[in-house]
Amino acid sequence: MSDLLTKGPRACVTGHPIAHSRSPMIHNYWLKLLNIKGHYDRVDTPPDVFPEFIRTMATRGFVGCNVTLPNKELAYQLADVKTERADKLRAANTLWYEKGKLHADNTDIEGFLFNLDEKAPGWDQKLDKAVIIGAGGAAAAIVQGLCERRASKIVIVNRTIGKAEQLAQRFSASIETQSFDNISAALDQATFIVNTTSLGMKGQPPLDLDLSRVSHNALVTDIVYVPLITSFLNKAQNQGLSIVDGLGMLLHQAVPGFEHWFGQRPRVTAELREMIEADIMRANP
Ligand code: ATR
Repeated sequence: MSDLLTKGPRACVTGHPIAHSRSPMIHNYWLKLLNIKGHYDRVDTPPDVFPEFIRTMATRGFVGCNVTLPNKELAYQLADVKTERADKLRAANTLWYEKGKLHADNTDIEGFLFNLDEKAPGWDQKLDKAVIIGAGGAAAAIVQGLCERRASKIVIVNRTIGKAEQLAQRFSASIETQSFDNISAALDQATFIVNTTSLGMKGQPPLDLDLSRVSHNALVTDIVYVPLITSFLNKAQNQGLSIVDGLGMLLHQAVPGFEHWFGQRPRVTAELREMIEADIMRANP
């Protein structure tokens, strides 16, 4: 009898490095909770072996995978069928098979949007001036999400201004760009601010911004979730601004993949969140 019948479908997260990924914890929690036979692993794939992994994924018994750094662009290129969102970002983090074809989606956009919908309902009614710090892959997903929610004005602030300009040009909406030197002008009257850089992550320097000129009802969020409350979010909170941490983005981006591979749409529950939070605390006492 094949593994698929005895052990159920098998999916994985693949990237390089991969040992730190909490995706197995999330998906295996849902499998157990929903009483579904199946498994979710971790597979280390430096970019030079990633194409071979994708070519042999099905024969190795995988029904699909999540893809993380540095392979998201390659994953997009190798897929047969791509969602509109994956096309927009030219990067994919979720792959699955349908009728023998490899499909690709980018669920970081959904992760970003649904996290805020859950934690700050109505947040998208306050997008008069949205400021995005950083211009990498995560920033691209967030620009797309903010365009979908019809932000009136988007400003991308990046250390390397050329990268901010390149990112802005990929979107039809008019998007402004600023270098870090002009960040105080960018933050003036901002109603929404998101950090998409690694600044503030454990082991990295903090993101230290002067938030005194932002709108008093601004929402501040971060994609960093280790630590859960970054010094940037802490400072915003101390100034009386609303904050949302980045963990929910990780949890919500996982939902569509699970549904494709295992056939049921899982929920991001308080229990799941507490379990991952506890793991973050254990790893970073
Ligand atoms: P991801 O795909 O996770 O977004 P990335 O593509 O490597 O990762 O993008 C990282 C972002 O963090 C970039 O905007 C980067 O700025 P540069 O384009 O100038 O490199 C930003 N970043 C990383 N370290 C930084 C630092 N020390 N100061 C300011 N910005 C930083």
